[in-house]
Amino acid sequence: MNWRTVICMGALAAAAAAAPAAMAADAAAGKTKAAACAACHGPLGKSTMPDAPNIAGQPAMYLAEQLKAYRSGTRKHEVMSMMAKPLKDADIDDLSAWFASIQVQVQAP
Ligand code: HEC
Repeated sequence: MNWRTVICMGALAAAAAAAPAAMAADAAAGKTKAAACAACHGPLGKSTMPDAPNIAGQPAMYLAEQLKAYRSGTRKHEVMSMMAKPLKDADIDDLSAWFASIQVQVQAP
């Protein structure tokens, strides 16, 4: 067994472990909830403000972690800390599933 196989098996195991949580998230509900985010992150997660990051197509796990960090105060930002405060875990999962499901394309300059 070479290292590639080992890494591949590890990734599969991680994906399998993450599956139940991912299935509980509702991207369609997240789309509705994301109306509150559109002013800065754009209706499809492509930012409309120079200081707000694009969040479309980011891994759901990453997005959820950031939102939880803003909510708990581990990550601080004037606006995002306020936006994340009222979110429940289910809101965070739905929003993360929605933004993660948006397809992004990149093009070499
Ligand atoms: C008033 C503008 C504004 C609104 C509304 C807003 N955001 Fe943000 N968001 C920002 C800014 C600015 C940042 C960058 C903050 C920082 O530097 O940490 C950010 C950062 C984030 C990040 C971290 C991205 C990364 O790459 O680490 C996530 C995730 C996020 N926002 C999700 C949301 C969601 C979900 C909503 C709606 C519930 C929302 N935001 C509403 C302005 C906004």
